[in-house]
Amino acid sequence: MSHTTAFHGSAKEDILESLCNQFTIDDQCLFKITQTFLSEISDGLSGYGRPMAMIPTFVKGVPDGSETGTFLALDLGGTNLRVCEVTLLGDKTFSLRQQKYKVSEALKTGEVTTLFDYLADSVDAFLTDTASQGHDSHVSHPDEDSPYVPLALTFSFPVEQSALDSGVLLTWTKGFSAKNAIGKDVVKLLQDAFDRKHIHVKCVALVNDTVGALLSRAYTSGGCILGAIFGTGTNGAYVEEVSKITKLRQNPTVAAGGEMIVNTEWGGFNNSRSALPTTPYDNKLDRESINPGFQAFEKFISGMYLGEIARNVILSLIDAAPKPLLFGGRSSAVLNKQWGLDTAVLSEIEEAWECLGRFSPPGQGSPEAQKEEKLRRIQGVLAQRLELSLTDISLEDADVVRQVCNLIASRAARMSGTAVAAILVHTERARLWDHGEQSSAGLKDEGKRIGVGVDGSLVEFYPNFQTKLRASLRALVGPEVESRVDIGMAKDGSGVGAALCALVAQRQSQANHT
Ligand code: GLC
Repeated sequence: MSHTTAFHGSAKEDILESLCNQFTIDDQCLFKITQTFLSEISDGLSGYGRPMAMIPTFVKGVPDGSETGTFLALDLGGTNLRVCEVTLLGDKTFSLRQQKYKVSEALKTGEVTTLFDYLADSVDAFLTDTASQGHDSHVSHPDEDSPYVPLALTFSFPVEQSALDSGVLLTWTKGFSAKNAIGKDVVKLLQDAFDRKHIHVKCVALVNDTVGALLSRAYTSGGCILGAIFGTGTNGAYVEEVSKITKLRQNPTVAAGGEMIVNTEWGGFNNSRSALPTTPYDNKLDRESINPGFQAFEKFISGMYLGEIARNVILSLIDAAPKPLLFGGRSSAVLNKQWGLDTAVLSEIEEAWECLGRFSPPGQGSPEAQKEEKLRRIQGVLAQRLELSLTDISLEDADVVRQVCNLIASRAARMSGTAVAAILVHTERARLWDHGEQSSAGLKDEGKRIGVGVDGSLVEFYPNFQTKLRASLRALVGPEVESRVDIGMAKDGSGVGAALCALVAQRQSQANHT
């Protein structure tokens, strides 16, 4: 945290210094996290019921961009529900028509059949709108005689898959807690809802959003080894050698050899927190969440949680004794409410400071005058989004909040780098770098581009998130490997990835009929 002379030597300075120490993770800590990551990856591949689930997805191989067909996809991610019709054009491009539907708190926490009825109704509404707007549906049918429209489900929660089109929900994440869902096959839950409502749709494939990101990035860029989400939640899926997924050895349906995409569920990495630099603010968040003790890594990183960590820190500064350190000791309804502070507000504050988005660079003037102009903008954001009176927010307050947001988001981005580094090291594309001379001799993809597809609000919109993730990756695997890592947005990954999975399902079903 940069020192502002106004706080120098004061109690405020001490507290800010202490926050800075608690939230900054140095390279040594990054190394320790990555090493622990590597051992939890191996552990997860060797057995079931481990903290990091390392779920085999039954998706073998990745597309190359030549695939064609039109597919229906349903995407339940976290904040939104989307139904889309995706057309793969076979030249690495696609077209997509979609409709978004809101998922209310009541649906997230109610009876699971009510949630899945809503999913089925949304698909029905999409198909009805399609017909009434005169769009011809070109959805590819594996079996022309069947009255059923095939659909792929992108379901972004930990699901232990037993085939491309079946899998049971292990646990809810990201604030979902719908009842009577754990242990149930989600494809069956959806199919039952379609059947109850006599909707002629058949769910043929099930895919996690990370797998979608990996497949869609491979489709559009011609190669990808890792798909990662940094959004409401965080997770990654990568291409693994089947021989290394030792827990599959007992499974007679899986042929040895070849590759398979593994959904790591890295949000659940290090639930014991042995390697994660936990602060009291993180502990409070965890204790008050609906899944204490779980999704430890995700709680440091993802959009669902960063706002809440910031709220906890801000409240501690408002309540500081003997003298309040923010807003003259005044709080607001937004600040007093659990989850009241949206991560988007942190992003807006940093945008105002960096002069990004709707904020233009400050006009002419001394550096002090320019800084003041930026802080005034932050004041405005705080007044509006925290519903505080402008007169309660000093410029010093704006500066403190800005630094708090920066600390929390920088920690998230740096920790995200450990996950990417761990996958590169595990798949033998990198070694943990000892800051000596670097050689990629004996490593896979030596000298070649390493494709990584990413999606999610943090990586797409949060100022400097990707730059900081890259700096962390560079510290971990060295500049040579880092410079070859091609991180690209997997736009519409959930829809396109689901379409690609439906295609695989279709090919398998055709193969079974011949
Ligand atoms: C949560 C889910 C995971 C998903 C991720 C990103 O971590 O458990 O399945 O991929 O969020 O949406």
